[in-house]
This record gives sequence, structure tokens and C-alpha cells, in this order.
Amino acid sequence: ASLLPFNTLGLNQLCDELIHVNTKETLINTCLELYHSDKAMMVLGGGSNVVFTEDFCGSVVIVETKGIVVEQQGTDILLTVEAGEDWHSLVTYCVENGYFGIENLALIPGTVGAAPIQNIGAYGVEFKDVCESVEFVDLDSSQLFEISHQDCQFGYRESIFKQQLKDRSVITAVKLRLSTNWLPNLGYSPLNSLNAATVSPQEVLEMVCNVRQSKLPDPKIIGNVGSFFKNPIISNQRFLVLKQQYPDIVGFTHDEQHTKLAAGWMIDNAGLKGFSIGGASIHEQQALVFTNTGEATGTEICQLAMHVTDKIEKRFGVTLEVEPRLIARFGEVTL
Ligand code: EPU
Repeated sequence: ASLLPFNTLGLNQLCDELIHVNTKETLINTCLELYHSDKAMMVLGGGSNVVFTEDFCGSVVIVETKGIVVEQQGTDILLTVEAGEDWHSLVTYCVENGYFGIENLALIPGTVGAAPIQNIGAYGVEFKDVCESVEFVDLDSSQLFEISHQDCQFGYRESIFKQQLKDRSVITAVKLRLSTNWLPNLGYSPLNSLNAATVSPQEVLEMVCNVRQSKLPDPKIIGNVGSFFKNPIISNQRFLVLKQQYPDIVGFTHDEQHTKLAAGWMIDNAGLKGFSIGGASIHEQQALVFTNTGEATGTEICQLAMHVTDKIEKRFGVTLEVEPRLIARFGEVTL
């Protein structure tokens, strides 16, 4: 079967079998059965953070489980959301119902169940800021677990699901703690131009949607997976050295000792905007985004990624790490 409708980069790679699941029970049973068979398997949400570098020799499970349960505790709102719900629809549902905390994460493509894996984040808010717990099935022990926010080991585009629990867990639902109190998070540009005393949640939602739409290509129109690289984290000392050579270089405080560099700025500065290999291109409005101009193959995307990492390494001495997951013939690989 073709994976074309199931990956936002729009790569036309094949897999042996596609299985759609729409109840938690079938999700769990299907994944357990495949895991204990000798076939390769992978679980897909919106397919907005994966690159199929070649045809996948195995079964792909598409998670379509739905359901939102709301529980109010004073001004706190606890939401239990099934993995297959669409993330952006959840954001708008929350704003409409007066549950606040995820407005800044509007228009992030993908499903709710995928959100914890890489701890999605944008405009100064990360999934971890609202995560109460994550429910998943451990394929090794066949048990269902619910782990707390702390145990998820969230970091910048990181969690336990990319580390110890990689390849052996399937997220079934997440619990979010939101609030009926409106407390805008306006630290990140361009939201810092809004007035915290008067701004409404709808206005924040709208600004996030507008800025994303102006810089990021709509995956329904131009294939992409958002940022193709993580923003590298380097020591403050190295940042100061780089700043002498490149006075305009963009960096944000990561913690007391570290700066997070804007990879998009570096790729832009290296003159790579618009550069392409075959059907794989660097987006003109945001150099951190790769696009598929229609006919790109997984190989061309990888060639473009290697070209960029090589250029950035030589120019800035900084190693870029790929942000989406690369899936080859039998499973996840690195560049
Ligand atoms: N910049 C340039 N040229 C470019 C791109 C960026 O000069 O071509 C500069 C911008 O002017 C800005 C800085 O780099 O000063 C940062 O750019 P931007 O605010 O667009 O954000 P980013 O660091 O490139 C990250 C996330 C995005 C998220 C935005 C907003 C990562 C890997 N990416 O991008 O997340 O939407 O911040 O918070 O952390 C994603 O993960 O797929 C994603 C889109």
C-alpha cells in the first residue's frame, strides 16, 4: 500500500500493510500482535514528523481513536484525550470552551498521541507545560501504564518515548492540565507585541495561526514536516565566540550555561534558502523547513539534509541534528 496519504512530506513510499484502528482495544491488540510477530511494525499518527527514506517492509498502524473527557477541579481542567484526536482541533476546542494553556500550540500538525514523543513546542510553550500524565501500552510486558509528567523525562524535542521506551511503547491517551484562568504566555516574538492586560485567548490563537501560515508551508498544499533540524544547544562561551564572527547570529537562553541557536538563521545565512536537490527544497520563507516540490524521494530528502549539515558544520562548527524521525526499510535510522 502507498504511504502517500499518510505522511505530510508527501513521499510516495510503500509499506506491506496499512491497518486503521479506531478503538483503544484494537489499537492495543493490533500492536501487541504485530510486536510479537516477526514482522516490522510502526505506529503513525498524523505522519507529520516522519520521513520514509525508502519503502517500509512491514505493517503501519494508523491511530484513529477518538474521545475527550473533561473533569473540572476548581479552576483546573483535566482533559483525558485519546491518541488519535487531531492536535489543532483540540487547541480550538479548548479555546472555545474556555480551557486555557495551549493557545500557543495552535496549527501544529499531527495527533495528540504523537505530541508527547517529541514534546511539541512553539512560541514559548511546550507540551510538557500542560502534561499531567501519558498512558501507553508497554509492548514488552503487554501492560498498560500511566506515567506522570516527571517520569516522561521531557526535554527540548525529547522524552522517554524517544529513549528507553522507543520501539516498545504505543501511546494510547494523554491527560492535560489546563485552566479556566486566562494567563497569556507572550514571551516569544511576535506575541510580545500584544498587551498582556487586554489580550484575549482568541487573539493569541489568531496571531499564532497567522505567523505560522506566513512562514510555514501548509502540508496540504506543499509537502513538509515543519522544522527539519533541531535548534542546536551550545555553551554560552561558544555562542560568544560565534557572535564575534557573526554578529547577527540568533540565539535564545536555554539554561544558565547554554544557548539554543536558531538553525534557520544559520541555514539562511549560509545562503541555502531555495536550494534544492531533485524535488527536495529548502523553503524560501523559513530555511529550517524542507519542502517536497512534488516528486521528491526519500533519498533526495536525505541528500539535502546531508548537504545542509555539511555546510553548517564547515561554516559554524555546529552539528545539526535531524528533527523528524527517519524511517527506512525495517524501522528508524539516523542520517
Ligand atoms: N530565521 C532566519 N531565517 C530563516 C528562519 C529563521 O533568520 O530562514 C531566524 C528568525 O528571524 C528568528 C529565528 O531565526 O529570529 C528563529 O526563527 P523562528 O521564530 O521561525 O523559529 P525556529 O527556531 O526556526 C522553532 C521551532 C518551531 C516553532 C518555532 C516557533 C524547532 C526545531 N522549531 O523554530 O517548531 O514553530 O520555533 O516557536 O525548535 C517544528 O518543530 O516543526 C516547528 C515548526
